[in-house]
Amino acid sequence: MIEVKDLHYSYSKQEAPVLNGLDLRIEPGQWLAVVGRNGSGKSTLARCLNGLFLPESGSVLVDGMDTAEESMLYPIRERVAFVFQNPDNQLVATSVEDDIAFGLENLGIPREEITDRVEQALSVMRLADKRDKPPHLLSGGEKQRVAIAGAIAMASTYLVLDEPTAMLDPLMRLEVIDSLTRLHREQGLTIIYVTNIMEEVLLADRVVLLDQGRVAKDCTPAELFSDPAYLIEQGLDVPQISYLAGRLADAGYESLRGALAVDELADRLCRI
Ligand SMILES: Nc1ncnc2c1ncn2[C@@H]1O[C@H](COP(=O)(O)OP(=O)(O)O)[C@@H](O)[C@H]1O
Ligand SMILES: [Mg+2]
Repeated sequence: MIEVKDLHYSYSKQEAPVLNGLDLRIEPGQWLAVVGRNGSGKSTLARCLNGLFLPESGSVLVDGMDTAEESMLYPIRERVAFVFQNPDNQLVATSVEDDIAFGLENLGIPREEITDRVEQALSVMRLADKRDKPPHLLSGGEKQRVAIAGAIAMASTYLVLDEPTAMLDPLMRLEVIDSLTRLHREQGLTIIYVTNIMEEVLLADRVVLLDQGRVAKDCTPAELFSDPAYLIEQGLDVPQISYLAGRLADAGYESLRGALAVDELADRLCRI
Protein backbone atom coordinates (compact mmCIF):
# COMPACT_ATOMS: atom_id res chain seq x y z
CA MET A 1 0.00 0.00 0.00
CA ILE A 2 1.10 3.59 -0.63
CA GLU A 3 0.06 5.91 2.18
CA VAL A 4 0.31 9.64 1.75
CA LYS A 5 -0.28 11.49 5.00
CA ASP A 6 -0.77 15.23 5.39
CA LEU A 7 1.69 15.84 2.57
CA HIS A 8 2.98 19.38 2.07
CA TYR A 9 5.33 20.34 -0.72
CA SER A 10 6.56 23.74 -1.94
CA TYR A 11 8.90 24.59 -4.79
CA SER A 12 10.08 27.71 -2.98
CA LYS A 13 9.70 29.20 0.46
CA GLN A 14 8.23 32.41 -0.93
CA GLU A 15 5.29 30.71 -2.57
CA ALA A 16 2.24 28.95 -1.15
CA PRO A 17 2.61 25.15 -0.92
CA VAL A 18 1.70 23.26 -4.07
CA LEU A 19 0.62 20.22 -2.06
CA ASN A 20 -1.22 21.36 0.97
CA GLY A 21 -2.13 18.62 3.43
CA LEU A 22 -2.81 15.85 0.95
CA ASP A 23 -4.02 12.47 2.24
CA LEU A 24 -4.32 9.38 0.05
CA ARG A 25 -4.14 5.60 0.42
CA ILE A 26 -3.53 3.47 -2.62
CA GLU A 27 -4.26 -0.23 -2.21
CA PRO A 28 -2.25 -2.74 -4.25
CA GLY A 29 -4.02 -3.99 -7.36
CA GLN A 30 -5.97 -0.79 -7.91
CA TRP A 31 -6.13 1.30 -11.05
CA LEU A 32 -6.30 4.84 -9.73
CA ALA A 33 -6.84 7.85 -11.98
CA VAL A 34 -5.62 11.24 -10.78
CA VAL A 35 -7.31 14.27 -12.35
CA GLY A 36 -7.50 18.00 -11.69
CA ARG A 37 -7.03 21.30 -13.47
CA ASN A 38 -3.58 22.44 -14.62
CA GLY A 39 -1.51 23.39 -11.62
CA SER A 40 -3.59 21.41 -9.12
CA GLY A 41 -0.51 19.41 -8.10
CA LYS A 42 -0.87 16.11 -10.01
CA SER A 43 2.69 15.94 -11.33
CA THR A 44 4.12 17.07 -8.00
CA LEU A 45 2.20 14.36 -6.17
CA ALA A 46 3.27 11.74 -8.73
CA ARG A 47 6.93 12.64 -8.12
CA CYS A 48 6.47 12.36 -4.37
CA LEU A 49 5.29 8.76 -4.68
CA ASN A 50 8.71 7.29 -5.42
CA GLY A 51 10.84 9.82 -3.60
CA LEU A 52 11.80 11.93 -6.61
CA PHE A 53 10.49 14.78 -4.44
CA LEU A 54 10.56 14.62 -0.65
CA PRO A 55 7.81 15.99 1.60
CA GLU A 56 8.32 19.32 3.27
CA SER A 57 6.11 17.91 5.99
CA GLY A 58 3.87 14.88 6.27
CA SER A 59 4.95 11.55 4.82
CA VAL A 60 4.80 9.10 1.95
CA LEU A 61 5.07 5.42 2.89
CA VAL A 62 5.50 2.72 0.26
CA ASP A 63 4.67 -0.66 1.76
CA GLY A 64 5.71 0.84 5.07
CA MET A 65 8.96 2.38 3.79
CA ASP A 66 9.31 6.13 4.24
CA THR A 67 10.53 8.03 1.14
CA ALA A 68 12.26 10.51 3.47
CA GLU A 69 14.68 7.80 4.63
CA GLU A 70 17.62 7.75 2.27
CA SER A 71 18.37 4.08 2.83
CA MET A 72 14.85 3.23 1.64
CA LEU A 73 15.16 4.96 -1.72
CA TYR A 74 16.46 1.94 -3.66
CA PRO A 75 13.92 -0.53 -2.29
CA ILE A 76 11.19 2.06 -2.92
CA ARG A 77 12.32 2.60 -6.53
CA GLU A 78 12.25 -1.16 -7.03
CA ARG A 79 8.55 -1.02 -6.23
CA VAL A 80 7.38 2.30 -7.64
CA ALA A 81 8.30 3.08 -11.24
CA PHE A 82 7.60 6.27 -13.10
CA VAL A 83 6.66 7.01 -16.70
CA PHE A 84 6.75 10.63 -17.87
CA GLN A 85 4.65 12.44 -20.40
CA ASN A 86 7.35 12.70 -23.02
CA PRO A 87 9.10 9.39 -23.80
CA ASP A 88 11.97 11.27 -25.49
CA ASN A 89 13.08 12.46 -22.06
CA GLN A 90 13.28 8.89 -20.78
CA LEU A 91 14.96 6.98 -23.56
CA VAL A 92 18.73 7.06 -23.30
CA ALA A 93 20.36 4.03 -24.93
CA THR A 94 21.05 3.10 -28.55
CA SER A 95 18.78 0.05 -28.66
CA VAL A 96 15.41 -0.81 -27.16
CA GLU A 97 16.93 -3.71 -25.23
CA ASP A 98 19.73 -1.59 -23.74
CA ASP A 99 17.25 1.07 -22.85
CA ILE A 100 15.16 -1.32 -20.81
CA ALA A 101 18.31 -2.64 -19.12
CA PHE A 102 19.67 0.83 -18.34
CA GLY A 103 17.79 1.49 -15.10
CA LEU A 104 18.49 -2.03 -13.87
CA GLU A 105 22.23 -1.61 -14.39
CA ASN A 106 22.06 1.57 -12.34
CA LEU A 107 20.40 -0.32 -9.51
CA GLY A 108 23.33 -2.76 -9.52
CA ILE A 109 21.21 -5.81 -10.30
CA PRO A 110 23.11 -9.00 -11.30
CA ARG A 111 23.60 -9.62 -15.03
CA GLU A 112 21.46 -12.77 -15.35
CA GLU A 113 18.59 -11.19 -13.54
CA ILE A 114 18.79 -8.14 -15.81
CA THR A 115 18.58 -10.43 -18.85
CA ASP A 116 15.52 -12.19 -17.41
CA ARG A 117 13.71 -9.00 -16.49
CA VAL A 118 14.44 -7.40 -19.88
CA GLU A 119 13.12 -10.49 -21.70
CA GLN A 120 9.96 -10.44 -19.66
CA ALA A 121 9.37 -6.72 -20.17
CA LEU A 122 9.98 -7.08 -23.94
CA SER A 123 7.49 -9.89 -24.08
CA VAL A 124 4.77 -8.26 -21.96
CA MET A 125 4.97 -5.03 -23.95
CA ARG A 126 5.17 -7.01 -27.25
CA LEU A 127 8.44 -5.36 -28.21
CA ALA A 128 10.60 -8.45 -28.80
CA ASP A 129 10.84 -7.79 -32.56
CA LYS A 130 12.02 -4.21 -31.88
CA ARG A 131 14.76 -5.15 -29.42
CA ASP A 132 17.69 -4.08 -31.63
CA LYS A 133 16.09 -0.91 -32.96
CA PRO A 134 17.37 2.50 -31.91
CA PRO A 135 14.55 4.05 -29.83
CA HIS A 136 14.63 7.33 -31.77
CA LEU A 137 13.47 5.50 -34.90
CA LEU A 138 10.30 4.19 -33.23
CA SER A 139 6.86 5.78 -33.36
CA GLY A 140 5.66 7.84 -30.38
CA GLY A 141 3.46 5.00 -29.15
CA GLU A 142 6.29 2.47 -29.43
CA LYS A 143 8.63 4.82 -27.59
CA GLN A 144 6.16 5.17 -24.75
CA ARG A 145 5.83 1.36 -24.64
CA VAL A 146 9.62 1.10 -24.35
CA ALA A 147 9.51 3.60 -21.48
CA ILE A 148 6.81 1.51 -19.78
CA ALA A 149 8.84 -1.66 -20.40
CA GLY A 150 11.83 0.00 -18.72
CA ALA A 151 9.64 1.02 -15.80
CA ILE A 152 8.11 -2.40 -15.23
CA ALA A 153 11.49 -4.09 -15.54
CA MET A 154 12.62 -1.89 -12.65
CA ALA A 155 9.62 -2.05 -10.40
CA SER A 156 7.17 -4.81 -9.86
CA THR A 157 4.34 -3.36 -7.82
CA TYR A 158 3.33 0.22 -8.58
CA LEU A 159 3.46 2.05 -11.88
CA VAL A 160 2.96 5.82 -11.81
CA LEU A 161 2.24 7.40 -15.19
CA ASP A 162 2.05 11.17 -15.64
CA GLU A 163 -0.14 11.91 -18.67
CA PRO A 164 1.62 9.19 -20.67
CA THR A 165 -0.53 9.60 -23.78
CA ALA A 166 -0.75 13.41 -23.86
CA MET A 167 1.72 13.64 -26.74
CA LEU A 168 0.36 10.70 -28.74
CA ASP A 169 -2.19 10.59 -31.54
CA PRO A 170 -5.40 8.62 -30.86
CA LEU A 171 -4.17 5.37 -32.41
CA MET A 172 -0.94 5.30 -30.48
CA ARG A 173 -2.86 6.27 -27.38
CA LEU A 174 -4.98 3.13 -27.77
CA GLU A 175 -1.84 1.04 -28.26
CA VAL A 176 -0.38 2.29 -24.97
CA ILE A 177 -3.69 1.94 -23.11
CA ASP A 178 -4.02 -1.60 -24.42
CA SER A 179 -0.61 -2.58 -23.08
CA LEU A 180 -1.39 -1.04 -19.70
CA THR A 181 -4.75 -2.79 -19.44
CA ARG A 182 -3.04 -6.10 -20.15
CA LEU A 183 -0.32 -5.41 -17.58
CA HIS A 184 -2.88 -4.56 -14.96
CA ARG A 185 -5.04 -7.58 -15.70
CA GLU A 186 -2.34 -10.20 -16.19
CA GLN A 187 0.34 -9.06 -13.76
CA GLY A 188 -1.84 -7.38 -11.16
CA LEU A 189 0.26 -4.22 -11.37
CA THR A 190 -1.10 -1.25 -9.41
CA ILE A 191 -1.57 1.68 -11.78
CA ILE A 192 -1.57 5.32 -10.76
CA TYR A 193 -2.58 7.18 -13.86
CA VAL A 194 -2.47 10.98 -14.06
CA THR A 195 -4.63 12.17 -16.93
CA ASN A 196 -7.05 14.84 -17.98
CA ILE A 197 -8.46 12.72 -20.80
CA MET A 198 -11.83 11.73 -19.39
CA GLU A 199 -12.21 8.64 -21.60
CA GLU A 200 -9.05 7.32 -19.94
CA VAL A 201 -10.49 7.93 -16.47
CA LEU A 202 -13.11 5.30 -17.30
CA LEU A 203 -10.38 2.64 -17.19
CA ALA A 204 -9.88 3.25 -13.47
CA ASP A 205 -11.53 1.59 -10.47
CA ARG A 206 -11.22 4.82 -8.59
CA VAL A 207 -10.55 8.46 -9.36
CA VAL A 208 -9.03 11.13 -7.17
CA LEU A 209 -9.57 14.77 -8.08
CA LEU A 210 -6.97 17.27 -6.89
CA ASP A 211 -7.80 20.89 -6.23
CA GLN A 212 -5.15 23.28 -4.88
CA GLY A 213 -2.94 20.47 -3.70
CA ARG A 214 -5.53 18.45 -1.85
CA VAL A 215 -7.88 15.59 -2.61
CA ALA A 216 -11.19 17.28 -3.34
CA LYS A 217 -13.01 14.16 -4.49
CA ASP A 218 -12.32 10.43 -4.17
CA CYS A 219 -14.91 8.29 -5.94
CA THR A 220 -15.60 5.97 -8.86
CA PRO A 221 -15.47 7.32 -12.42
CA ALA A 222 -19.25 6.81 -12.65
CA GLU A 223 -19.80 9.01 -9.62
CA LEU A 224 -17.49 11.71 -10.95
CA PHE A 225 -19.15 11.80 -14.34
CA SER A 226 -22.65 11.89 -12.91
CA ASP A 227 -22.06 15.53 -11.99
CA PRO A 228 -21.07 17.40 -15.18
CA ALA A 229 -21.44 20.80 -13.50
CA TYR A 230 -18.75 19.83 -10.98
CA LEU A 231 -16.41 18.67 -13.76
CA ILE A 232 -16.81 22.02 -15.50
CA GLU A 233 -16.22 23.90 -12.25
CA GLN A 234 -12.98 21.93 -11.84
CA GLY A 235 -11.85 22.82 -15.36
CA LEU A 236 -12.27 19.30 -16.68
CA ASP A 237 -13.87 18.09 -19.89
CA VAL A 238 -17.26 16.47 -19.71
CA PRO A 239 -17.42 13.27 -21.78
CA GLN A 240 -20.11 13.66 -24.47
CA ILE A 241 -22.12 10.71 -23.16
CA SER A 242 -22.11 12.09 -19.62
CA TYR A 243 -23.16 15.49 -20.90
CA LEU A 244 -26.05 14.03 -22.88
CA ALA A 245 -27.13 11.72 -20.04
CA GLY A 246 -26.96 14.65 -17.58
CA ARG A 247 -29.01 16.96 -19.81
CA LEU A 248 -31.67 14.30 -20.34
CA ALA A 249 -31.75 13.46 -16.63
CA ASP A 250 -32.18 17.15 -15.77
CA ALA A 251 -35.06 17.26 -18.25
CA GLY A 252 -36.86 14.53 -16.32
CA TYR A 253 -35.34 11.26 -17.55
CA GLU A 254 -33.74 10.54 -14.20
CA SER A 255 -32.95 6.89 -15.01
CA LEU A 256 -30.35 8.06 -17.55
CA ARG A 257 -28.19 9.90 -15.02
CA GLY A 258 -24.66 8.61 -14.82
CA ALA A 259 -24.68 6.54 -18.03
CA LEU A 260 -21.04 6.24 -19.10
CA ALA A 261 -21.03 4.55 -22.49
CA VAL A 262 -23.05 4.74 -25.70
CA ASP A 263 -24.35 1.18 -25.24
CA GLU A 264 -25.38 1.82 -21.67
CA LEU A 265 -27.21 5.02 -22.57
CA ALA A 266 -28.94 3.31 -25.50
CA ASP A 267 -30.03 0.38 -23.30
CA ARG A 268 -31.45 2.68 -20.66
CA LEU A 269 -33.22 4.81 -23.29
CA CYS A 270 -34.82 1.70 -24.77
CA ARG A 271 -36.23 0.83 -21.35
CA ILE A 272 -38.03 4.17 -20.92
N1 LIG B 1 9.71 23.13 -11.08
C1 LIG B 1 8.80 23.98 -10.57
N2 LIG B 1 9.18 25.14 -9.98
C2 LIG B 1 8.29 26.00 -9.44
N3 LIG B 1 6.96 25.80 -9.47
C3 LIG B 1 6.51 24.68 -10.05
C4 LIG B 1 7.40 23.71 -10.63
N4 LIG B 1 6.67 22.70 -11.15
C5 LIG B 1 5.38 23.02 -10.89
N5 LIG B 1 5.28 24.20 -10.25
C6 LIG B 1 4.03 24.84 -9.80
O1 LIG B 1 3.37 23.96 -8.90
C7 LIG B 1 1.98 23.94 -9.14
C8 LIG B 1 1.51 22.52 -9.39
O2 LIG B 1 2.15 22.02 -10.53
P1 LIG B 1 1.99 20.54 -11.05
O3 LIG B 1 2.21 19.59 -9.95
O4 LIG B 1 2.86 20.43 -12.25
O5 LIG B 1 0.44 20.52 -11.45
P2 LIG B 1 -0.34 19.65 -12.53
O6 LIG B 1 0.50 18.49 -12.90
O7 LIG B 1 -1.62 19.29 -11.85
O8 LIG B 1 -0.59 20.57 -13.70
C9 LIG B 1 1.73 24.89 -10.31
O9 LIG B 1 1.30 26.12 -9.80
C10 LIG B 1 3.08 25.02 -10.95
O10 LIG B 1 3.22 26.28 -11.52
MG1 LIG C 1 1.26 17.78 -14.70
